[in-house]
Amino acid sequence: MSPSPTLFLSVTDVAALVRQRGVAACIAGIADGLHADFLRWRDFDKCARLAHHSPGGVIELMPISDGVTYSVKYVNGHPGNPAAGLPTVMAFGVLADVATGVPVLVSELTLTTALRTAATSALAARWLARPDSRVMALVGNGAQSEFQAIAFQHLVGIEALRVFDTDARATEKLVANLQGSGLRVQACASVREAVHGADIVTTITADKASATILAADMLAPGMHVNAVGGDCPGKTELEPAVLGLGKVFVEFAPQTRVEGDIQRMPADFPVTELWEVFSGRRTGRDNEAQVTVFDSVGFALEDHAALRFMHAAALEAGLGERLALVPQLADPKDLFGALLPAGAPLQQRGPVNRPSAAPRTRAGSPSPAPRCDRPA
Ligand SMILES: NC(=O)c1ccc[n+]([C@@H]2O[C@H](COP(=O)([O-])OP(=O)(O)OC[C@H]3O[C@@H](n4cnc5c(N)ncnc54)[C@H](O)[C@@H]3O)[C@@H](O)[C@H]2O)c1
Repeated sequence: MSPSPTLFLSVTDVAALVRQRGVAACIAGIADGLHADFLRWRDFDKCARLAHHSPGGVIELMPISDGVTYSVKYVNGHPGNPAAGLPTVMAFGVLADVATGVPVLVSELTLTTALRTAATSALAARWLARPDSRVMALVGNGAQSEFQAIAFQHLVGIEALRVFDTDARATEKLVANLQGSGLRVQACASVREAVHGADIVTTITADKASATILAADMLAPGMHVNAVGGDCPGKTELEPAVLGLGKVFVEFAPQTRVEGDIQRMPADFPVTELWEVFSGRRTGRDNEAQVTVFDSVGFALEDHAALRFMHAAALEAGLGERLALVPQLADPKDLFGALLPAGAPLQQRGPVNRPSAAPRTRAGSPSPAPRCDRPA
């Protein structure tokens, strides 16, 4: 039995899919699948991602499996890229059948990462932020920011944004992109001004530095902090005192202790994993006045859920292209045969690199065709 050709989803396909369904509906669909996956946390074979660091950024591989479906994402993080006309974050990924290893889907994951990161942030906030939260500060107005805004509007009930970026053009772009969304958007002159009066604070900046974007004295009791941009060793956003203000929640502690804002805290700094809250094992927010912090770094479980969502949605919409990524072999042991001319019967196949003119023997008759280095 030959494997079915792999489905390939390009950026164009995923953009078409998201336009068809709507950004909010895609984020909500991914969040639903992800929530269900968090509830079966123990089904997943989990590990921290494999990171290759360089002076300008990081390239990471993020594998995970639930014993039925395996996924892996390739993703980079290069905060200096926009200055060279490139995105900070670019990604693609694979979904494979665990039973056979057949790659079922190869997909772009740059757009999909923005959707799944927003889905994860909003899902966490639904459980951790005060239910009456209506105003969000959004610090960092780059590639991810609109996705976060729409996720918090539709999944959490945010009505107004207070936005700030050190790059005024990024803020202008965000404001323009959110026109007609129904969100009230106010551009602010500083992080402090944006945070003042907010119920939720999202930090989603990019800088390869132990930065302090958000300081403890900017926060008020009861706020929820959605800290997304501190996701790599030596790359943080929160003053350590912010982490001491209340309760800190993470995706997968072994990875977040290395990559998250808690990298600046002692190794035994207390954290709660999201799945523990969703499953009722541990409490989330304990009271109205508590400060809650989601120290987000991005975990492979989220990409697994997002890839499965996109795969199902693309099949339903008839989008994507079939790729001959792995050979389709009549005889699975005859891989060499894939190099030979199509349709050539086994006995009559010529060599792979037949010389253009067969060498002549002394008598002038063609020499026998050179043999493949395998039994005919
Ligand atoms: N946790 C996750 O799952 C996850 C997923 C995707 C991206 N990220 C991270 O989120 C961050 C944003 O990603 P992006 O794709 O939007 O990057 P981006 O480069 O498009 O945008 C980042 C923005 O942050 C702004 N910025 C930098 N320093 C700032 C500061 N001190 N104050 C205010 N704004 C500042 C920049 O001007 C830029 O507009 C990155 O650090 C990325 O690694 C995390």
